[in-house]
Amino acid sequence: MTRLLIVHHTPSPHCQAMFEAVVSGATDPEIEGVEVVRKAALEVSPSDMLAADGYLLGSPANLGYISGALKHAFDVCYYPILDSTRGRPFGMYLHGNEGTEGAENAVDRIAAGLGWGKAAEYVVVSGPPSKPDLEACWELGASVAAQLM
Ligand SMILES: Cc1cc2nc3c(=O)[nH]c(=O)nc-3n(C[C@H](O)[C@H](O)[C@H](O)COP(=O)(O)O)c2cc1C
Repeated sequence: MTRLLIVHHTPSPHCQAMFEAVVSGATDPEIEGVEVVRKAALEVSPSDMLAADGYLLGSPANLGYISGALKHAFDVCYYPILDSTRGRPFGMYLHGNEGTEGAENAVDRIAAGLGWGKAAEYVVVSGPPSKPDLEACWELGASVAAQLM
């Protein structure tokens, strides 16, 4: 059994809708042998990160960056997991209303430092998530989970 860890900061109904769609895709019954674990970004520990085989990150874009909560997760975990999680796949969904480039670039840099492999294109949504947006979130969850089968 492999493990997919979803590290998310979910402060609003729009972020919650995206989170639920990602979880739904990741836990699709056709994906076998992958345990999906969800952790709030403010609660995740280095042990949680080390115990996973792949990662899904979810965050709003805040002040031109990832949320403070997801930043905190990496502040706490980065050095303890450095060199122990190299090569693991990850994906990310972002919600913003005013421009998400800073958050995307931040995760690019963090993942490059950790040596994580981008397993799918980021899903980025502005405003109320549409049906296609939520389908893209579902696909993101399913695609990253399927890569851990
Ligand atoms: C303090 C603050 C800063 C924010 N900065 C950004 C930003 O830089 N870029 C952006 O796209 N959205 C920004 N937002 C909007 C949030 O991303 C948005 O509120 C969040 O994704 C939840 O979406 P919702 O309020 O539509 O549910 C900011 C929100 C807050 C509260």
